[in-house]
Amino acid sequence: MESLKPIRRIAIVGTGLIGASWAAYYLARGFDVVATDPAPNAEANLRKYVEEAWDLLTEAGLSAGASRDRLEFASSMQEALADADFVQENGPERPDFKAKLFADMDDATPPDSILASSSSSLTMDVIQSLCKRPERCVIGHPFNPPHIIPLVEIVGGAKTSEETIERAMAFYGSIGKKPIRLYKALPGHVANRLQAALYKEILYLVQERVLSVEDADIAVCYGPGLRWGVMGPSLQWHVGGGSGGIHHFMEHLMGPLAGMMSVLGTPQVTDELKQIIVDGVVGEAGSESIDSLAREENKVLVGLLALRKNAGRSPTDFANPTRRLAV
Ligand SMILES: NC(=O)c1ccc[n+]([C@@H]2O[C@H](COP(=O)([O-])OP(=O)(O)OC[C@H]3O[C@@H](n4cnc5c(N)ncnc54)[C@H](O)[C@@H]3O)[C@@H](O)[C@H]2O)c1
Repeated sequence: MESLKPIRRIAIVGTGLIGASWAAYYLARGFDVVATDPAPNAEANLRKYVEEAWDLLTEAGLSAGASRDRLEFASSMQEALADADFVQENGPERPDFKAKLFADMDDATPPDSILASSSSSLTMDVIQSLCKRPERCVIGHPFNPPHIIPLVEIVGGAKTSEETIERAMAFYGSIGKKPIRLYKALPGHVANRLQAALYKEILYLVQERVLSVEDADIAVCYGPGLRWGVMGPSLQWHVGGGSGGIHHFMEHLMGPLAGMMSVLGTPQVTDELKQIIVDGVVGEAGSESIDSLAREENKVLVGLLALRKNAGRSPTDFANPTRRLAV
């Protein structure tokens, strides 16, 4: 890496579901954004997405200089990346395709810029394998939709430099995202694995006819899920341990919890189970369209984030890199 230049111009490679949401977020944070995607209508779809997201981004708070007019669409990747300080890649999730795409991005981008991939399931080892400057390539995996959800999982490959990881952590943290660092590459990174772990037990309980799909959703949503949206499960035990905090929890409550872990179930993901879930979800959604559910959810999420901020702990507090210990 030749210098630590400031990040002003962001390139978005691939403007599907995730790329469009990233573009909207970076515009709201006051960056120049240049996007590229070879799909027919990609530019029109992107501009429509940004238009529709802007009200909520405005409600969440725009950074100085934020403007939809700072969005450019480039017809070629070379043009899009020529002056980019930071690239957020959101192309199709296929290993060979992504490795070739990154090699092309590496050739087209100034040598001191960072190349970040939103990839959910590929390792950076694979993605950077054809690059001439693999040290500047890193995974910056968002949680959908990135213009609302702060989490970004950062993980490098064997050839990623420590400096790139630190710069990516600092950059995402500085723009209101909540970056976490993974020290090992795992399929699904971490947040999706956590979802899978919980959902495994939900499927098991539904399959065993312990409760309905709707009540399982209520159990998460109006029980622990509400608290997890404020403090993570481990910090939560500190509060749950009463005046003795986490020490009391470890001595008196970890035993029963560990016992419960040993009897968690493994569902058989049969067609019948899938149909039970589908019927339950269709019943829960009722006549509401998916778009309207998503809009409603995003609105509540923005309100929750604002509430946390106003309560004195900003959404990024728990992700303050200087407070965190390395593993
Ligand atoms: N969908 C999710 O919930 C989610 C969440 C987090 C991360 N991701 C990751 O984000 C990435 C994109 O996923 P998505 O769901 O937005 O997919 P998507 O299919 O909606 O978008 C992919 C886009 O890439 C474009 N594309 C194809 N070839 C291209 C090229 N040569 N240059 C530039 N763009 C090109 C396509 O036209 C399409 O618009 C994937 O790596 C995925 O793993 C997805």
